[in-house]
Amino acid sequence: MPDNIDNLLVETRRFAPDEAFTGQAVATPALAERAAADRLGFWADQARELVTWSKPFTRVLDWSNPPFAKWFDDGSLNVAYNCLDRHVEAGLGDRVAIHWEGEPSDTRTLTYAELTREVKRAANMLLDLGVTEGDRVVIYLPLIPEAVISMLAVARIGAIHSVVFGGFSAESIRARVDDAGAKVVITADGGWRKGAVSPLKPAVDEALDETLHGASTVDTVIVVKRGENPVDWHDGRDLWWHDAIARSGDDHVAQAFPAEHPLFILYTSGTTGKPKGILHTSGGYLTGAAYSHRNVFDLHADTDVYWSTADIGWITGHTYVVYGPLANGATQVIYEGTPDSPEPGRWWDIIEKYRVTLFYAAPTAIRGFMKAGRQIPASRDLSSLRLLGSVGEPINPEAWVWYRDVIGGGITPIVDTWWQTETGSIMISALPGITTLKPGAAQVPLPGVAIDVVDDHGEPVGRGEGGLLVITEPWPSMLRGIWGDPDRYRETYWEKFADKGYYFAGDGARKDDDGDIWLLGRVDDVMNVSGHRLSTAEIESALVSHPLVAEAAVVGAADETTGQAVVAFVILRTSQVESMSPDDAVAALRAHVGHEIGAIAKPKTVMIVQELPKTRSGKIMRRLLRDVAEGREVGDTTTLADTSVMTVISAAL
Ligand code: WT7
Repeated sequence: MPDNIDNLLVETRRFAPDEAFTGQAVATPALAERAAADRLGFWADQARELVTWSKPFTRVLDWSNPPFAKWFDDGSLNVAYNCLDRHVEAGLGDRVAIHWEGEPSDTRTLTYAELTREVKRAANMLLDLGVTEGDRVVIYLPLIPEAVISMLAVARIGAIHSVVFGGFSAESIRARVDDAGAKVVITADGGWRKGAVSPLKPAVDEALDETLHGASTVDTVIVVKRGENPVDWHDGRDLWWHDAIARSGDDHVAQAFPAEHPLFILYTSGTTGKPKGILHTSGGYLTGAAYSHRNVFDLHADTDVYWSTADIGWITGHTYVVYGPLANGATQVIYEGTPDSPEPGRWWDIIEKYRVTLFYAAPTAIRGFMKAGRQIPASRDLSSLRLLGSVGEPINPEAWVWYRDVIGGGITPIVDTWWQTETGSIMISALPGITTLKPGAAQVPLPGVAIDVVDDHGEPVGRGEGGLLVITEPWPSMLRGIWGDPDRYRETYWEKFADKGYYFAGDGARKDDDGDIWLLGRVDDVMNVSGHRLSTAEIESALVSHPLVAEAAVVGAADETTGQAVVAFVILRTSQVESMSPDDAVAALRAHVGHEIGAIAKPKTVMIVQELPKTRSGKIMRRLLRDVAEGREVGDTTTLADTSVMTVISAAL
């Protein structure tokens, strides 16, 4: 990989923080000053302030055996107690923890006192089933209160959860059950999606089928009744949640576990195909989750209503639905269904209904709403919103500005948060109230987090240059390893800059003239055109800034003359499809990219498509588009949200 990634897209819009916002902001410049003066002392302060320790720690960081870190390791705590009981003990038992909204508009409200009681009962249920400290429990549930209750109950008894996203297949479940040696699976009959019940239990049954896959480590399957759809029953293995929990008492005293006790495993895809079980532990993770949630989202727990649209199957659902908000005593909304069920304004109805103040979503959803048109959100009262967040991929400046104008009433700050399953919590983000915002940039490392952009030798690139994003010092919420595979952990994240001790994130980034950070996408996606390294993200941004375009994906295809050629796949806006012939549209878009970035970036080919191949978390699978662009047979599509998309694209071209 050559030293630099060229960056050619210039975005000059700036949004200074509003004085009123700054006046009440949680994060002040003192935070960064304290962190810069004494990084480890700063983290120790955060850990003491935000977490209640059963036994206080005296050691902050043990980095004597890199890359295996230990944070606060002589301290002990109970993570679930920190998210529940302590708020009740502090007199906040009547505060709403969760406003849950089911897709068919059924609702459930849980105060901190009620949630604590439910988690205690579920903890007793698991104990009665013989689950003990260190055992693994797979959770395969829709976004219903029992999902949060299960995670916290597992944490409360010192077991380890592995949440498997409800859209994953039987094979994915089985691979995760086997890798972790899970003892119990918690699932549901089904969950609501797009106006119908989507069954879940059949996938669990198939995953655990002995004749198909041999005996598994699972001895109990707990089934929540949600969809009311019929299920096959395996006597001796299956239990209804409501039956089992009815036998469990609501007395449970949380016991403390060491700070480095494993909290959860969450699988993420790797380049080799075998999913990586990312391991997070207790004290450092909770510190990172609570700290970032409070400061990045400017949480005023007594007045804010927070909503992250993420599913608990992703790290965002772990850190910014369960652990961060609940550790901070926040009131939040949780929604089971899809953004457009039963109609395209559902999300905005929910914001209006609960008077949501802090909202966290993904760029892919924002672009989806842009495509549908601003009249849908414009017909709702979104005036309660005071901060918007973005996560998952670079948010292109056009989508950023649309998000702020149409959803945020032209006034809310937007925090574009960069992080990963592996980092556990947000690493790079503007701090609202402090940072002057730049649309499209994640901007600054959080106080306490050490980030750099380096060349292939690990030397920092200059301002105005691009390179590889690294984290140069250990941080509390960092992954502690890959479950059962320490060598893969070292090779994947630490080998590239082993002499410097840097964590390599796999992303390209650039520093602008102010030193702010712009993410350029995974380095695997970087193209090399006539010796220039071009970022897919920048060309995609240029395409989306054209009024014809709703969404774009760019790949490099092998080219005899230029090494790689830029190939763009674009979805046109519904309202624009009829306005121009396809040939004229392609010509207009090529010219537009040439104008926005430069001739070097002009796509050689522009293909107009109806859909783009995406994973279930909304990431575009450029690898598959590269197959199409290079005329190859399309590779493995099993992790696509909709596996038929590639057939449609290939056929159309
Ligand atoms: C990868 C991590 C972190 C929760 C969701 C994804 C990309 C994430 C941003 C952002 C640009 C981003 C990176 C990163 N990414 N946030 N704000 N700007 N890119 O978690 O599945 O572990 O994916 O998502 O490429 O490495 P994940």
